Amino acid sequence: MLATLILNIMFAIRRRVRNRGEVRKSESLTSATRRRVITLEGVTKTYDTGAGDFSALSSADLSIDSGQFVAIVGKSGSGKSTLLNMLSGIDRPTSGLVEINGTVLNDLSENELAKWRGSNLGLVFQFQQLMPTLTILENVMMPMDFAGSIPTRERAPKAMSMLELVGISDQAGKFPSALSAGQQQRGAIARALANDPPVIAADEPTGNLDSRTAESVLELFRELAAGGKTIVMVTHERDIATSVDRVVTVADGHVLGGNTPAPNAAQVSAAVSHG
Ligand SMILES: Nc1ncnc2c1ncn2[C@@H]1O[C@H](COP(=O)(O)OP(=O)(O)OP(=O)(O)O)[C@@H](O)[C@H]1O
Ligand SMILES: [Mg+2]
Repeated sequence: MLATLILNIMFAIRRRVRNRGEVRKSESLTSATRRRVITLEGVTKTYDTGAGDFSALSSADLSIDSGQFVAIVGKSGSGKSTLLNMLSGIDRPTSGLVEINGTVLNDLSENELAKWRGSNLGLVFQFQQLMPTLTILENVMMPMDFAGSIPTRERAPKAMSMLELVGISDQAGKFPSALSAGQQQRGAIARALANDPPVIAADEPTGNLDSRTAESVLELFRELAAGGKTIVMVTHERDIATSVDRVVTVADGHVLGGNTPAPNAAQVSAAVSHG
């Protein structure tokens, strides 16, 4: 199936192209409605680099609740994307446990994992990968076609409601190249939401946007988190601490502080500024 192939290629590219950690209380969900969505225990990712093993991530412990908007910050090469890939099931750890939304990902085969991702995870990247030959609406419908969990005739209206949610329903019939960068990124977020996944993983989603457009994307993520989505976002935005519920700092493959309270804004800023 073409859609399967495309998604698998996207994941393969993400695995190959490695181009490049705490808590303010969210007012939006009460503690009664919150639940644990992501758990990492002792997660290590080691690469065999010819010159020996290299640990991109070492013994990471992290738990994230529903409705949290979490930023992952740190210097370039510190392990942010690796952490995101682990806690979203994009890639597998060398050791350690990953549990998302009640499923232990370690137990899944490659096929099961791909299927699981299709309905449990929304992905947004810096350079969004909308299919250039499909309209925005068709792009948003693509994950629905892949997962097959929504009846065919309901897909277009559902995709349209996603575009309304991100504020670009008037662009539905256009091809991606006819949209601004910010509109395209909103389209990518709508596509990430297509199957109503509990978790959205975003790797530098605002890296390609001007500051105003970036702020509107952050605002959209805040709204989604307020509605109960768990959003985990790698970012180089310097003043991110004021936008999110929690900042997780990564340094040399270590999650600083893990599940303990956040470093202050100045520490976060220092960790990002050398990125
Ligand atoms: N496939 C791989 N093989 C070997 N080393 C890798 C591989 N992928 C990542 N690394 C290394 O792991 C470390 C962490 O990489 P990662 O992509 O997580 O960094 P990052 O914090 O996301 O950096 P950036 O901000 O530049 O995107 C880096 O030193 C990187 O070179
Ligand atoms: Mg990265």
